[in-house]
Amino acid sequence: MKKALITGITGQDGSYLSEWLLGQGYEVHGIVRRVAIEDPDHRMWRIRHLLPRLQLHSASLESYASLFQVLARVQPDECYHLAAQSFVSYSFEDEFSTLNTNINGTHHLLASLKEVAPRCRFYFAASSEMFGKVRETPQTEATPFHPRSAYGISKVAGFDLTRNYREAYGLKATSGILYNHESPRRGYEFVTRKITSHVAKIKFGLADKLPLGNLEAKRDWGHARDYVRAMWLMLQQDQPDDYVVATGQTWSVQQFVELAFACVDLDWRDHVVSDPRFFRPAEVHLLLGDASKARRQLGWAPSCSFQELVEEMVVDDLERLSDSPAGRPAAAAPRPTVSLVAAMDAGAR
Ligand code: GDD
Repeated sequence: MKKALITGITGQDGSYLSEWLLGQGYEVHGIVRRVAIEDPDHRMWRIRHLLPRLQLHSASLESYASLFQVLARVQPDECYHLAAQSFVSYSFEDEFSTLNTNINGTHHLLASLKEVAPRCRFYFAASSEMFGKVRETPQTEATPFHPRSAYGISKVAGFDLTRNYREAYGLKATSGILYNHESPRRGYEFVTRKITSHVAKIKFGLADKLPLGNLEAKRDWGHARDYVRAMWLMLQQDQPDDYVVATGQTWSVQQFVELAFACVDLDWRDHVVSDPRFFRPAEVHLLLGDASKARRQLGWAPSCSFQELVEEMVVDDLERLSDSPAGRPAAAAPRPTVSLVAAMDAGAR
């Protein structure tokens, strides 16, 4: 039975990837921070249903020693490095912690793999934010990077580290350059989930206004479930490489808003207000991905349309709210049981 280790297993992508890998017969291990174990209601709601089938290890991306110990013990065949400070907006507020966590975390993981599991296949979650002030549209694996945030810069560094461990030490290290991918499991701080959760609240009369920043920003939005499949396909290739994963279509934030409000027969103009707090000091330009290489070499294609994605998210938020008046996903559910395989917390903060 193949073993996979996932960092960021409690996140949107980590939860879908765990489901996918379990379905493929993998033994799935995850690295979680101690805070997640101490507060499972809040931090593990996305993997609650999978917990009995997962093996969780406590470690911190900031601690080389803790990652080293987990890797040495698990000896995974595949390692998916998804954990990061991934909210671009926050990276403007705290550049230092974004750069530290994201760059050092990737470096610690690669350096540990090289020592204790050099045959393990490694996936790095790179991002379309690396293209930033884009040099060409659509973007491919050959498009030069020009990041516009500390987050984007940290991802370029992670991408370069991954490539360098591949070239210098022969690690089977691959980067997926993923465009925005959303789902009902998206964090509430990201614009899509912010919109759909507000639409549900407004429909239920629990809110009236939705404050937003730049409505003209455009993104290439796909479904996270499709994108984790691409991650897995990348690690099934004999040769490590880099791949763009995108739908090849862009939609504006306003178009997302219009569709989401239309799902509940409301007019978005009655509710959306412009709020300067949600504009960014620097925006990326038109992010539009060309995933031809992934199509050709991995046989990957997205299965969910933009309209289906918006509708699924709105319907899910309506259902959550009707189940739980507070709108909190975990509020009504029983407390999950979390058991650690090993509390390998050496040096972890
Ligand atoms: N979050 C947020 N909140 N974004 C807003 C708002 C708002 O109120 N109003 C407008 N926006 C615009 C942002 O300015 C941005 O242009 C766009 O909505 C999308 O923002 P996010 O949903 O926060 O995502 P992101 O594009 O910055 O980053 C996501 O995608 C990247 C891949 O391209 C994240 O998932 C990153 O981790 C990922 O790498």
